[in-house]
Amino acid sequence: MARTVDWDDDGVITAIDQRALPAEFRVLRLGTVDALVAAIADLTIRGAPALGASGALGVALAARAHPGDPDRVRAEAERVAAVRPTAVNLRRGVERALRRLDDGTDAVVAEARAVLDEDEATNRRLSRRAADLLTELCPGRPLRLLTLCNSGALATVAWGTGLGAVRELAERGLVDEVLACETRPLLQGARLTVWELHEMGVAHRLCVDSAGASAIARGLVDAVVVGADRVAANGDAANKIGTYALACAAAQSGVPVVVVAPDSTVDHATASGADIVIEERAADEVRTVAGVPTTLPDTPVYNPAFDVTPARLLAAVVTEAATFRHGAWTVETPVPVP
Ligand code: MRU
Repeated sequence: MARTVDWDDDGVITAIDQRALPAEFRVLRLGTVDALVAAIADLTIRGAPALGASGALGVALAARAHPGDPDRVRAEAERVAAVRPTAVNLRRGVERALRRLDDGTDAVVAEARAVLDEDEATNRRLSRRAADLLTELCPGRPLRLLTLCNSGALATVAWGTGLGAVRELAERGLVDEVLACETRPLLQGARLTVWELHEMGVAHRLCVDSAGASAIARGLVDAVVVGADRVAANGDAANKIGTYALACAAAQSGVPVVVVAPDSTVDHATASGADIVIEERAADEVRTVAGVPTTLPDTPVYNPAFDVTPARLLAAVVTEAATFRHGAWTVETPVPVP
């Protein structure tokens, strides 16, 4: 599969159009910051690591458009960083590329490309670590896993995080079935996770979000595996709305919940989940399904895109180099902060 987001040598971002899947696989070309901002806002590009890469690429676009005008580049970069507040990767990607601004446009582009290149290796590593932990938590059998939203290749540049761990387990012959929650209102589970599981050849079933808790209670799930948009210093994890409810159900049944994310999603400057800004999205996302109205047109709506699951409800947060477990981080190998 093509990278979810990439940089074309002619100075344009290419992005798999995640609004079009699964009906159509198409790759868009985004040549301006305006186009990138719109693509992030409407979830053409989504998922925390993919947003991080896009943030860096957005600075590359701005640097090429305004050579010799660093103030303008910084202003454009801020527009990109501000589109979605919860996934810390987005602002981090922007800041990482901006740090090369004084070295010239080519250096900014090179830094953005480095973010892309690192992503797959990082994701493969964290997926191996998460798969090892899941087999330790649920030994001796192929696993029945439940996931929400999409934390696969489409949420990253390549490979995936939560779904990357599922892929790693599947390659080890250790996946019995994945239950994919459809993930209202925008159906990332139904549209994207199911598409990826199908492409991978992993056995799966789709369920409505409200079936997830009872599937856990009925003993149909060995572990819940999800990604994250921001992990606080104390291990609290923000992820797609509905993760908290699944974690509550999992805690009732003694089912482990494992959050799988890169170090770039862990924000040690955010002390706890209470400090994470939760994005609220447009009312019409809830008042419609695939554009078709499902309620009265002016119905007031509550539409948080994410929720926070406290660390005490998580068996672990696993990154490429660190694990949060039993109330503390352990670091396998020190990773330089870019
Ligand atoms: O609103 P989205 O689709 O960007 O939300 C994405 C998620 O919640 C993912 O689970 C998270 O970004 C982790 S992706 C590896």
